[in-house]
Amino acid sequence: MSTPIGSDIGRVDGRLKVTGAARYSADHPLDRVAHAHVVVSAISRGRVRSMNVDDARGAPGVLAVYTPFAAPRLYPVAHIMVENYAVLQDPQVRFRGQVIGVVVAETPEQARDAAALVTAEYDETPARTSLSAGLPGVPVFPLEEGAPVNPTVLAPGVASIDAALSASAVLVDAAFTQQPQSHVPIEPQNTTAVWQNDHLTVYSGCHVPPLFALMLATRVGVTPDRVRVISTFVGGGFGSKVPAWSDAALAAVAARELGRPVRLVLTREQSMILAGHRPLITQRVRLGADRDGTLNALSHDSAAEMSAVGGWPTAPAAQTSGVLYRTRNLAMDQRLVELDTPATRAMRAPDEAPGAFALETAMDELAVALGMDPVELRLRNEPTTVPVTGQAWTSRRMADCYRIGAERFGWADRNPVPGARVEGDWSIGVGMASAVYPAHATPTQVRMRMRDDGNVVVSASTPDLGTGTYTMVSIVASDALGVPIAQITPELGDSSLPLGGAAVGSRGTSMLAPAIQTAAQALITALTDLAVQTTGSPFQGRDPATLTYRQGRIEAGVDSASFAELLAMARMPAVEVTPPPPTPQAESLAANGFGAHFCEVRVNRFTGEIRVNRFTSVFDVGRVISARTARSQLVGGIVFGIGGALLEANPIEENGRFASGNLADYLVAVNADIPAIDVSWLDYSDTAFSSAGARGLGELGNVGSSAAVGNAVYNATGIRVRDLPITLDTLIG
Ligand code: MOS
Repeated sequence: MSTPIGSDIGRVDGRLKVTGAARYSADHPLDRVAHAHVVVSAISRGRVRSMNVDDARGAPGVLAVYTPFAAPRLYPVAHIMVENYAVLQDPQVRFRGQVIGVVVAETPEQARDAAALVTAEYDETPARTSLSAGLPGVPVFPLEEGAPVNPTVLAPGVASIDAALSASAVLVDAAFTQQPQSHVPIEPQNTTAVWQNDHLTVYSGCHVPPLFALMLATRVGVTPDRVRVISTFVGGGFGSKVPAWSDAALAAVAARELGRPVRLVLTREQSMILAGHRPLITQRVRLGADRDGTLNALSHDSAAEMSAVGGWPTAPAAQTSGVLYRTRNLAMDQRLVELDTPATRAMRAPDEAPGAFALETAMDELAVALGMDPVELRLRNEPTTVPVTGQAWTSRRMADCYRIGAERFGWADRNPVPGARVEGDWSIGVGMASAVYPAHATPTQVRMRMRDDGNVVVSASTPDLGTGTYTMVSIVASDALGVPIAQITPELGDSSLPLGGAAVGSRGTSMLAPAIQTAAQALITALTDLAVQTTGSPFQGRDPATLTYRQGRIEAGVDSASFAELLAMARMPAVEVTPPPPTPQAESLAANGFGAHFCEVRVNRFTGEIRVNRFTSVFDVGRVISARTARSQLVGGIVFGIGGALLEANPIEENGRFASGNLADYLVAVNADIPAIDVSWLDYSDTAFSSAGARGLGELGNVGSSAAVGNAVYNATGIRVRDLPITLDTLIG
């Protein structure tokens, strides 16, 4: 059998999905399920003085109405990254759109209609809703305790980053703003809660079922062993489905109170408010270089919205300016500004995508100031060690990404003079940018079970967000066991399964693939032991070392038996292993995914309309396991980046309200906005990273892709837009 690793295999769950057989969390049929609808605040800050719920209580089908004045008990979660208050436990309003009531009824329509009958009176106080009100904020706090927050590296004898910048021959100083972006996975936020014998089962599409279970247990006030979270299929997730938000807790306690299952599906607008958003971010990047393009100083500052109710501590510089280029002097000042806005939340490459937009735009400006090719500028400053830590990488072939990308794109044909290329009504321009994203190989666990029906079940709590995890797991297990893909049954997305890696931070493949290989080895050992111990087996009593395993069979000389035959002889339904996690990579090494984007745009000379003509990206991610779904992730990240550059924005108005609450107003890139995207990768195994050699790639395509678009717009027009999204009005003079 040739290895399926890296081949273009269709999604193993594709048929289930296209035939509607895949059950997403709100699809599970349950007896007597009641439906909940939330009532949200119409002010941004203050308190609810009174509420009138009489009409709602009397409406058809209504089973219960909960408000801050009459609600089941809930508890706060002490976790830095999630909203920090317990919903409905006090009349305080912390942001516009906060849940102030829940109506439960027999049908979703009855719950929604009754919720519309609830009225509230408020005592309003002024809310902080814009960044300028809160500057300069507080230094960002690290996700891992003890991590340096705002590291500074200065060459010997250099007094400060400002001194290093002033001493540079060429200086770029650029400020950037990007508006909040909303999480809009196809599947809106939803939870179905079922209690049985004081145990809670929850169906909710999420990133990390065990973490979700833990948070929900805390919110509800039960021990974690009593909560199971099932997340078999997820309708997309870009970070919003990591925490158990208030809606999940409300479904759980309502189900307990009413003694029947309760389903709470947030509307699209409620999902956009109540499940986090990419924050409002301002950045300033200063670059100082010698005349030959050698980077001498890099300063990267940021101030990001941080909701008073908690959220994601955005740190755009650390994993971009901290790892991309060699420089003698490096400093960052990343800050958070507290606002009375809905909780912020990580969104795909949450720090790296905004950080790379600023850094990679500034690098383009530096190339212009130097009169140097932007690719050449980057090659000149390609580092061999991480600037801040001095670590070497497991592997870094960024230079190949630049060279191969430039070749595939035809970069050599570019005209560096802005606005020089005109075709009819359109100005044509090209731009490039770098991509970088951390890779994680933290050891994790899977369970592997060979069954007497000839199938192998591979189990882990990690869900498939739609990214292709089922397919990846099947491929790795098929390769490691030499068993056809059709005989592998991946079982994913359930907090009761062995603790697989979290589906966050692009680590599904990087963590699961080596764990699957470890489990396969353990399984082969267990099967060999069984072969020599089983009465009637042709291998009985032999030295296990004389047996070989090949393609699902144990062999020695002329004797051969499939694992199904061995199990039958042993009268066992299965042999199963859950080995300890594999040894982690050498901690002295840094690991990142890398890439180079090249983009061509056309900008209408009269209307400012921007269209992307073509896009080429080359990535260094180590081994690609599943070509089909890897390509899909990388293309998806680039589409996300194009959308972020040109379309996606949900500004928070002065009154604390998001400008958009639906997909008609909140623009994401659609097919008509996206040209053919040429994605490729350097195909090799990063053996210093893990036994599987795969570093992961879910977020990488999103990093730098917005900057490549912006840099192309500059080349087309001579206009440098530093605020996202780039809108037509900024391009007509
Ligand atoms: Mo992702 S934004 O790491 O869930």
